[in-house]
Amino acid sequence: MAPIDHEEATPHAPLHVAIVMDGNGRWAKRRGLPRQLGHPKGVDAIRRVVEAAPDHGVGWLTLYAFSTENWRRPAGEVAEVMRLLKLYVNSDLEKLARSGVRIRILGRRTGLPPDVAEIVERAERRTAGNDKFFLQVAFNYGGRADLVDAARALAADVASGRLAPEDISDELLQAKLSTDGLPDPDLVIRTSGEQRLSNFLLWESAYSEFVFQDVLWPDYNAEYLRAAIDEYNKRERRYGGAVADDVLAAG
Ligand code: IPE
Ligand code: IPE
Ligand code: MG
Repeated sequence: MAPIDHEEATPHAPLHVAIVMDGNGRWAKRRGLPRQLGHPKGVDAIRRVVEAAPDHGVGWLTLYAFSTENWRRPAGEVAEVMRLLKLYVNSDLEKLARSGVRIRILGRRTGLPPDVAEIVERAERRTAGNDKFFLQVAFNYGGRADLVDAARALAADVASGRLAPEDISDELLQAKLSTDGLPDPDLVIRTSGEQRLSNFLLWESAYSEFVFQDVLWPDYNAEYLRAAIDEYNKRERRYGGAVADDVLAAG
């Protein structure tokens, strides 16, 4: 097979890439370590990917860091993930802010410990004026919870008489999601070999391309990202329409 010409292959950059960062626990277990020791290594992988993404034509990067279902994990592991989010923001916020990154946290704010909610708000406030690169961290995020919250908000608008049920559209529902204003993800990547969405971006990934990579998240790097984007570039997106060649042939 001929090598891919990257200039040629990325005509529609910047892309929105969303990643289910999976496999931290297994990475640690394979080394005979307690599961939660995989999470700091996962943060190192986040740094590598955030750094590499703009060079790969990515303009929006959304990382699934903690799901609404991850509260079911042992309290010690949950506390470790909360600690690492705070550590990451404390250590990297200034550098990210100065390089033009805009940070946004997706998901439910209610239910976050106050110190975590505070740091999340600080990261968003500090980078609110940036527009070089958009980094979303899905934290206490669940696609169903986000849709439920949107349904509640729409119902409240209907109950108060501000909105008629027949006026509810794709756009109005989208506007109530925590992803309001983001382009839909072009590419959803999941690491660790699992092939499921686990409640990530249920509405937004309706026409996303999926790439599943057999690598544990702490081992992820720029080469894996390149490989996923190369795979994406071979796909033909149709959005329910016909294959481009067939449309041309049909005149
Ligand atoms: C993903 O890695 C990180 C979080 C969900 C916080 P896991 O912790 O799910 O790793 P595995 O799937 O158990 O290996
Ligand atoms: C999805 O991974 C959530 C994150 C990566 C934050 P999980 O490890 O929680 O998903 P399941 O349990 O394997 O479906
Ligand atoms: Mg997992």
